[in-house]
Amino acid sequence: MKITMIGTGYVGLVSGACFSEFGFDVTCVDVDAAKIARLEKGEIPIYEPGLDDLVARGVSAGRLDFTTNLEDSVQNADVVFIAVGTPSRRGDGEADLRYVHAAARQIANAMRPGTVIAIKSTVVVGTCREVQRIVAEERPGVDFSIASNPEFLREGSAVEDFMRPDRVICGVADERGEETMRRLYRPLNLRETPMVITTLENAELAKYAANAFLAMKVTFINEVANLCEAVGGDVQVIASAIGLDKRIGNKFLHAGPGFGGSCFPKDTRAYAATGRKYGRPQQLIEATIEVNESRKIDMAERILSALGPDPAGKTVAVLGIAFKPNTDDVREAPSLVIVQTLEGAGVTVRAHDPEAMGPAKELLPNVTWCDAPYETAEGADALVMLTEWNAFRALDLKRMRGLMRGDALVDLRNVYPAEDARDAGLRYFPLGKAAPSA
Ligand code: UDX
Repeated sequence: MKITMIGTGYVGLVSGACFSEFGFDVTCVDVDAAKIARLEKGEIPIYEPGLDDLVARGVSAGRLDFTTNLEDSVQNADVVFIAVGTPSRRGDGEADLRYVHAAARQIANAMRPGTVIAIKSTVVVGTCREVQRIVAEERPGVDFSIASNPEFLREGSAVEDFMRPDRVICGVADERGEETMRRLYRPLNLRETPMVITTLENAELAKYAANAFLAMKVTFINEVANLCEAVGGDVQVIASAIGLDKRIGNKFLHAGPGFGGSCFPKDTRAYAATGRKYGRPQQLIEATIEVNESRKIDMAERILSALGPDPAGKTVAVLGIAFKPNTDDVREAPSLVIVQTLEGAGVTVRAHDPEAMGPAKELLPNVTWCDAPYETAEGADALVMLTEWNAFRALDLKRMRGLMRGDALVDLRNVYPAEDARDAGLRYFPLGKAAPSA
């Protein structure tokens, strides 16, 4: 079976490489010629553990290639995946579907009869039918199938997530679509991955409902953390205690500086916009979005108050800029709002991130970028743990303190044991629990 994957972003590139690992012939298409040229040379445009090996293996086995020529590739394909971006539209938060629609038109004009068009991009409910309509309009009378195949991979563990998903969801409209999706994911059968075969609308909505629920779960524990601080509780104990209830589960209960990334912020907005559009407001998710936005400011204010009554002119050392570890992605990272708020208050920010400094430099032009954590701490009045990269977990806090001017450690991911911070002579500000008395 020959696959064309349109779009070489996170989802498209990882899915394409993984399908080629399954043994399918995959061509990845992108309009960005520079990106395709880099991929052809074996350069991976994103930092994603394991992806470079997978791409190299697929390419050398002749099962994976890259092109800007959509027409040629689609002409030879049995299945064409649409994995282009669906950014938030400015203003109303609705998903911008212009790239999906454009891809649909191009596919329609190049496909051969019998092609299955599967949408992997996260698209609002009704989009698959819309694509079906566009394709039928462009190529009247030509037989094709449409499928919805939302992707649940996480950045930083994308390859592992694709290869070992909790489930695969396929929305189909006919037998050929169903049979094709089953064949594509047959390699996962050995691992007994459940497959949910359902309607196009259910598959589209399931993706949003999953992300909205997870974003709400993270936001819930963040609010519990606030309450813990007020009543002398410990959010980590509460998270473990409630997480043992199988109905709740222990995942996505780590209090932090708010969710970010390329999916949760955009998908919660689009989901809320869909609710409004159909007159069924999704109030929990509207609140989730609002609480998450204010949390980022709240985090910056905590850092400012740790600096004392007069923060202007002080220096903060930030460890971690990416929205989460193991990625170089800074899209909607809490760090962006936090750093800008600190700078707005007259604070100088020094920062280090193992992978995300390149992408962050343009967005945060006033930051002093440092090559290593210890260098970042030099002369700082406060140290802020913002992204829980493994490389930051075992830092020698005594050494950090020795390099700093001040003594505050604001740990927005609860990474450091309070005793270690205290032994290092640091005033420790964790999340969701009382700071230990010295
Ligand atoms: C998410 C979904 O998990 C994935 O299924 C979907 O396909 C894309 O969106 P991703 O954005 O890569 O994946 O990151 P994820 O690991 O889900 O984290 C999202 C955000 O929530 C991050 O900012 C992270 O720091 C935050 N988070 C997550 C917490 O603050 N606490 C948690 O317990 C979990």
